[in-house]
Amino acid sequence: MRSSRGVARLATGLSLWCLLAQGVSGYVDGSGLSNYSFPDDFIFGVATAAFQIEGAWNIGNKGESMWDTYLHKHPNFTVDGSNGDVATDSYHKYKTDINCVKSLGLKYYRMSISWPRILPQGTDNVINKDGVRYYRTLFKELLKENITPVVTLFHWDLPTPLMDLGGWSNPKIIDYFEDYAKVAFTLFGDIIKLWSTMNEPHQHCSNGYGGDNFVPAMMSGGVGEYLCAHYMLLAHARAYHLYDKSFRPHQKGKIGITLDAFYAEPKDPTKQSDRDAAERYLQMHLGIFAHPIYSSMGDYPPLVRERINNISLSQGFTRSRLPYFTSSEIDLLRGSSDFFGLNHYTTYLMSDMPMLQGWRVPSWDHDTGVLLEQNPLWPKPGADWLAVYPAGFRKVLNWITRNYGTRIPIIVTENGVSDFGGLNDYARVSYYNNYLYQMLLAMYEDGCNIQGYFAWTLMDDFEWKDGYTVKFGLFHVDFNSTERTRIPKLSAFNYAEIVRRRRINFKYIEQIPKAHINIL
Ligand SMILES: *[C@@H]1O[C@H](CO)[C@@H](O)[C@H](O)[C@H]1NC(C)=O
Ligand SMILES: *[C@@H]1O[C@H](CO)[C@@H](O)[C@H](O)[C@H]1NC(C)=O
Ligand SMILES: *[C@@H]1O[C@H](CO)[C@@H](O)[C@H](O)[C@H]1NC(C)=O
Ligand SMILES: *[C@@H]1O[C@H](CO)[C@@H](O)[C@H](O)[C@H]1NC(C)=O
Repeated sequence: MRSSRGVARLATGLSLWCLLAQGVSGYVDGSGLSNYSFPDDFIFGVATAAFQIEGAWNIGNKGESMWDTYLHKHPNFTVDGSNGDVATDSYHKYKTDINCVKSLGLKYYRMSISWPRILPQGTDNVINKDGVRYYRTLFKELLKENITPVVTLFHWDLPTPLMDLGGWSNPKIIDYFEDYAKVAFTLFGDIIKLWSTMNEPHQHCSNGYGGDNFVPAMMSGGVGEYLCAHYMLLAHARAYHLYDKSFRPHQKGKIGITLDAFYAEPKDPTKQSDRDAAERYLQMHLGIFAHPIYSSMGDYPPLVRERINNISLSQGFTRSRLPYFTSSEIDLLRGSSDFFGLNHYTTYLMSDMPMLQGWRVPSWDHDTGVLLEQNPLWPKPGADWLAVYPAGFRKVLNWITRNYGTRIPIIVTENGVSDFGGLNDYARVSYYNNYLYQMLLAMYEDGCNIQGYFAWTLMDDFEWKDGYTVKFGLFHVDFNSTERTRIPKLSAFNYAEIVRRRRINFKYIEQIPKAHINIL
């Protein structure tokens, strides 16, 4: 595992750069520029999420989210014992954030609204004026700088009173989410023209409801996690149609959902069982959400439906652990997204595995029956799960295109890499250059309809269970200072150069003005 704790010295950095540069020859000429370029109207942005940056957990009449409540009760849930009470203090420092986004030359900023900041009880009987004022001010400030806010309604910080009712495992949440969406469209829809209903329902449900990696740590394997998936999908569809019918006609925006996907490669491509395992993994984890929305047929993918039914029955359940949609619900979901929001970070190698020590039965993992490994040659600059394999990005974009066509554009709503800190983040520069190049190949050589890309993330932040130990930011944040000072890393300069030139400049890192290098 390669890491660069602290601020690497420039000399070290440059020799590292030479190593990283070896991988890029073949698709750049002597100029260092990628041979393909991004269209002028291509959406470039950067992404954040409310709980990971805002802090101010009890300020301005905000209600508690389940992450606030849980982390206060279980202070050692995160690896560093941290929580989101202050985070990057974006509630107070939003103007600095806007300046950071602006300095990258970006016209789009993806962020989320904290549901309990707007509705402290979760329900729409009490609307918090302070919260509304905070977001309206932030949105207007962004517009003043010609930056379009792209807003996610739910990025995991469920109001605690709703979690106490079972959260996404209680079907009543569908009504509550629709009510919240209605409040948000009503209060902000004059400004916000790009909405995402949900962020990564797969990670949220499997880690939070199936396991205990995320809050609410429900540990309801194979049951609660599918209820969560099912009701998140239905709540998404309700919010989509509410917008489509009652708000789109005058607000004229777009609304979709954000799904996460690792790419899945067969461990041994010559083995049919490994090829089946890879396809099964993608259907069980991405198809389960994407097929109901984006396929022409609608509903859960046949493979997913059949497999969970079979295993449920063999386990003695009277009915499938995966709930059924009614035919009107299938219709409600089908086509309920104006874009395919994709969060992608890494790839795993898949092989057939009926049972593994550590899997609970039942569980989503056990139902999938696939062993996940990574190639030891793929670099891991930070979090252990995030190995760098740029070609996997092109492949997952192609899998989506093969399965759901090109009519609905893909917007990459998150992509990025973690490390353990430092301003001279050569591994991140290399990651963005190479992943973005694979995306260009998907666009130009494979015909994928990709219209936007958001880097994860603007600045180092609260990374859920990892607390503040892993860093994903283009900007370094000093968490020891009450000012939470933001400083651009090399990757920030590099990303700004890509956005400005509309090409990847693989040599830019050598050309960053000395003035910038010196402050790093
Ligand atoms: C760009 O480079 C790639 C990789 O070498 C190559 O496959 C592709 O044909 C090139 N395209 C153009 C338009 O030069
Ligand atoms: C957290 O602390 C509690 C109480 O001190 C302890 O029982 C538990 O094992 C700890 N959990 C972890 C993950 O360290
Ligand atoms: C489900 O079980 C039936 C009957 O045993 C079998 O034919 C089918 O292949 C199974 N389907 C899956 C996806 O496992
Ligand atoms: C704060 O500073 C100390 C000492 O320099 C360092 O060890 C620690 O990692 C810093 N904490 C954070 C959150 O940056």
